[in-house]
Amino acid sequence: MPKTLLACLASAALAATMVAPALHAQDSDAIVTIWDGVYTAAQTERGQAIFDRSCSRCHNSNLSGSDRGPPLVGEEFLTSWIDGSLEALFSFVRDSMPQDNVSLVNDAGKADILAYILQNNGFPMGTTELTPDTGRLEMVQILREGVAPGLLNLSFVQVVGCLEPGPGARWVLARSNARPGSRGRVVTADELERARTRALGTETYTLVSATPFEPAVRNGHKVAAKGLLYRQPGDERLNLTALETLADTCSTER
Ligand code: HEC
Repeated sequence: MPKTLLACLASAALAATMVAPALHAQDSDAIVTIWDGVYTAAQTERGQAIFDRSCSRCHNSNLSGSDRGPPLVGEEFLTSWIDGSLEALFSFVRDSMPQDNVSLVNDAGKADILAYILQNNGFPMGTTELTPDTGRLEMVQILREGVAPGLLNLSFVQVVGCLEPGPGARWVLARSNARPGSRGRVVTADELERARTRALGTETYTLVSATPFEPAVRNGHKVAAKGLLYRQPGDERLNLTALETLADTCSTER
């Protein structure tokens, strides 16, 4: 989709969002947002120390960036991650940073750094530490302040479901189960692994841009999909960006 259209749709969605009551869900299956306090103060102190040693030479000690690395604060940075899940940001840091030595910092250290980055972007701290558990991180949405958690119109989502022909020569994901995702163009090995353990659900999504993913070859398969959700009353569409087969049948699943 052209960037301008996406930006235009995104601002329309922002204008339509509602102010949500504070959410205190402890249930690991509940979606929360980065405004709910997902890291602790102690963690940001550890994170700062590791950041100064391992990241600041490219991103600057105040996170404002340098000619060796982009800023990790502000609008330019957030634009890459907003409306996705915290898992996407964590996994990027885990798998790609420091750019010249990804194994320099362990996963727990990277979770601490992420807490420090969140603090510097003005997201509130809480009483529970952020952990490198990607299954939990994917339930944390990066949203603008005041936007209610949930799979809203124009959220990036990841879906497990059954690929089937639908009405009007469209393909659908039937018996689907969606959760927050990212704008990635692939289903990563990690995401596939987590998707395998997820049950099917009750939602149906009509697929947009399914053709490049050869839906006919995957007819009846249990699949893991990623994409941008269009959610209007009576109209649930998924603009696909990635699709992988999990199993070549969906019939034995609940
Ligand atoms: C050798 C320089 C270098 C070091 C050290 C480094 N980075 Fe980066 N970082 C980069 C560059 C260059 C990019 C942009 C390239 C890209 O996005 O793949 C980047 C991108 C990023 C991004 C994405 C920014 C965006 O706009 O979305 C994050 C987050 C990040 N780095 C975090 C870290 C963390 C955390 C560390 C320390 C553990 C670290 N980096 C260490 C060079 C570095």
